[in-house]
Amino acid sequence: MSWFAGEVPRDGEDAVTELAAAARDVHVRDAAQILRPPRDELPYLRHDRADELVLDGGALAVEAGVVAGFEPDGGRGLEVDASGCAVVPGFVDCHTHLPFAGWRAHEYEQKVTGVAYEEIARAGGGIAASARALAAADDDAVLRQSRTLAGEMLGHGTTAFEEKSGYGLAVEAELRSLRLADRLGEQVAQQTTSTALLAHSVPPGFDADGWMDVVEEMLPRVTAETGATALDIFVETVAFSNEHLARIGRLAGRYGLALRCHVEQFATHRSVPVALEHGARSVDHLSCLHPDDVDPLAAAECAAVLLPGAELLGGEALAPGRELADAGAICVLATDLNPGTSPIASLPVIVGLGVRRYGWSVRESLLAVTLNAAWVIGRSADLGSLEPGKRADFLLLDGPVEHVPYRFGHNPVAACFVGGLPVFVRPDAAWRLSAGT
Ligand code: NIG
Ligand code: FE
Repeated sequence: MSWFAGEVPRDGEDAVTELAAAARDVHVRDAAQILRPPRDELPYLRHDRADELVLDGGALAVEAGVVAGFEPDGGRGLEVDASGCAVVPGFVDCHTHLPFAGWRAHEYEQKVTGVAYEEIARAGGGIAASARALAAADDDAVLRQSRTLAGEMLGHGTTAFEEKSGYGLAVEAELRSLRLADRLGEQVAQQTTSTALLAHSVPPGFDADGWMDVVEEMLPRVTAETGATALDIFVETVAFSNEHLARIGRLAGRYGLALRCHVEQFATHRSVPVALEHGARSVDHLSCLHPDDVDPLAAAECAAVLLPGAELLGGEALAPGRELADAGAICVLATDLNPGTSPIASLPVIVGLGVRRYGWSVRESLLAVTLNAAWVIGRSADLGSLEPGKRADFLLLDGPVEHVPYRFGHNPVAACFVGGLPVFVRPDAAWRLSAGT
């Protein structure tokens, strides 16, 4: 028995039906490690406390799709033999640019041969090229490509992810993108949230101030017609300024949206103090973070979302991950999955980069793709950690957690459960699942 389901199995679907029906009650036994927070109901865990994460072995009991406890308990439902395996919460990818259309592989080749991102953008490539591709694709084509990527993410353990608009660059196109994000959320096994990245690139025919006026005018429609829960902006010489960030921050507050922002990616603009002043939920990228901004950020209730895939493939500077963690920031890792700077769908790869590039421990890197990432998308009350009462989104890894960064590039996910349902079981792990009595 094995399957790969982009969607949760439904009643009546042949081979999967029997186990899927039983699966909302699950008994995982003999796990070598189970990753748990030091105590329940933490909204997040600051990184200077990451070593308090518990990694004891044992059992995990799921009832009706919800974590019930950690006592061995046979009986009805699905039995999972986790001997030699680690059990971790499903990964949360809190920064992706899904849904999008097409790719930009030729730009990667340009970049590695020395052409700067800004130069590619000025020549009509970059975000504008993806906006043209999105406009040219019909809804079904966008959803098909995005579902395929969501399936790839699921296969690598991502059980919840954030989506963004930002490749619309026009009012109706941004609204369409957010509606597509909502529809994608209904079509995939994962939990999703969406972010209105309305200030991503200055659209042709506008100056930045003029486009900000348009953004302000369209926000009532964004909140009425779409499920967006956050507002985002790209602060960079080729995009928007700190003044625009402040304006977006005020708008986010007025419309009850969380403030997210792409800052300090290619150069230092001192955007972090502005973001903190406006109560940002997260500041993302930080590759060129000013050293004086480390401590204020670490002291704030604002996550530092680091995107080492974009840094690696873009040849960008390295965010001061070690310093931020030592200072006690709420650190997070994400793929930044997008056709330009980071076409990476795998969080295990990103965890590997977090360990190698920032000098983080395995616990620190796993915390950054679980509880703290769930907090960024406003879902840490029910996602991001294994504790009684939370959704039973969890992964069976094919070895100890230390193997995730060490076997870099290997996909460690042997099975993936959402709400207690095994939505992905690797063929070599199928023997571990059996129907209980
Ligand atoms: O997160 N920095 C701005 N936005 C994206 C890149 C978007 C693109 O190049 O298509 C990012 O890196
Ligand atoms: Fe991004």
